[in-house]
Amino acid sequence: MKTIYVLNGPNLNLLGTREPETYGSDTLETVEKLCRDTAAELDIALEFRQTNHEGEMIDWIQQARLQADALVINPAAWTHTSVAIRDAVTGVALPLWEVHITNVHKREAFRHHSFLSDVAQGVICGYGIRGYRYALIEAARSL
Ligand code: DQA
Repeated sequence: MKTIYVLNGPNLNLLGTREPETYGSDTLETVEKLCRDTAAELDIALEFRQTNHEGEMIDWIQQARLQADALVINPAAWTHTSVAIRDAVTGVALPLWEVHITNVHKREAFRHHSFLSDVAQGVICGYGIRGYRYALIEAARSL
């Protein structure tokens, strides 16, 4: 059975209460359930995690090298700031799908640049939490 890591970056633990007009009212638990249901449908094993600590995210990406077949990451604010996370992803050479709940291109200019998009297989943004499901479907299809 193939394994996909779904990794979430900073402040996504606050989904549901964080700027609901922007991110909606679904919580991270709802996102996890959506991912688990999708993984069951696709017959893949899922590891679902969230962290507010960049080093921990890098450790998880490195761990995925041995334990996962693909990565689905919502890097949140690190999308726009982190060369270290990009280097971790390129270092482990796993296929990556980048997910954003919001359409980052409709938002502030500083959200228009991603350090990950050019090393991702695909980028899904602006579809709310359904983007996680779409990313898992594409990732599973590619494996
Ligand atoms: C986000 C978009 C990022 O710009 C932001 O920093 C987030 C969430 C999204 O899912 O829409 O924290 O990745």
